[in-house]
Amino acid sequence: MFSRLAAKRLLEIRRVLRPSLPLSSPASTAARSFSTALNYHIDSPDNKPDAPWEFTAANMERVKEIMSHYPSNYKQSAVIPLLDLAQQQHGGWLPVSAMNAVAKVIEVAPIRVYEVATFYSMFNRTKVGKYHLLVCGTTPCMIRGSREIEEALLKHLGVKRNEVTKDGMFSVGEMECMEDVTPKRVVEIVEMLRRGEKPPVGTQNPNRIRSGPEGGNLTLLGECKPPPCRDLDAC
Ligand code: FES
Repeated sequence: MFSRLAAKRLLEIRRVLRPSLPLSSPASTAARSFSTALNYHIDSPDNKPDAPWEFTAANMERVKEIMSHYPSNYKQSAVIPLLDLAQQQHGGWLPVSAMNAVAKVIEVAPIRVYEVATFYSMFNRTKVGKYHLLVCGTTPCMIRGSREIEEALLKHLGVKRNEVTKDGMFSVGEMECMEDVTPKRVVEIVEMLRRGEKPPVGTQNPNRIRSGPEGGNLTLLGECKPPPCRDLDAC
C-alpha cells in the first residue's frame, strides 16, 4: 500500500516542479511538496494576474485599521490578515490579482505574498463551495481510513477533489489533522449542512469523548507496577 502511495506522491511532486507561473520559492515548494495544493498558477478567465482587483471602500477602511497595528517599516507583517480580508471579499478564495493587490498595500514583491498564500492551507487559490470540506491526508489518518472517507464524500457529492458542486454548496479538499469521522458520518454531515443545520463541533465518533481514545480510557487505570528489576547481587 505504501509503495502505491509513494508513487502517487512522486507524481504530485513532479507536477509541482513543472510550473507555469511559480508561486513560491524552491525552499517553500519543498516544504509543501507533500500537499496536493498547487504551487503554481495557471491563467483562467476568472484568475489572471492582470485582472482588475481592488479592496472595496469598506474593506479599505479595514485595511487601514489592520495596517495601523504594524510599524511603518514592518508593513509586510500584515500579509496574513490582508490575505484573509481579500479572501473574504472574494467569496472564499484568492485569485492571483487579489494577492497582487495585497503586495501593493504592503509594498513587497508579489512573490512574497504568493509564498504565504501557497504555504497556508487556509488560503484557497481556486474557487471553493459555500462549505469547503477538508479530509486529512497524512499517514495516521490514512491508516484510519481517510481515503475511504474522501471517496464517500466525492461519490456522494458527484465531484472530484477541489471541484465545486453545481449548486456551489460543497467542495472537497485535503489538509492535515482533522477530527475523526467515518464514511457514513461524513455523508450525514454533508446532509446536515445542506439542510442548513450545524454539525456538532469536535469528534464525530460517538465512541470517543473529545480527543480521548475510542472506547474510553484503557491505560493507567490500575495500580502502577514498577518495571521488573534484575537482582544484580544474585548474578
Ligand atoms: S494525522 Fe490526521 S488528524 Fe492528525
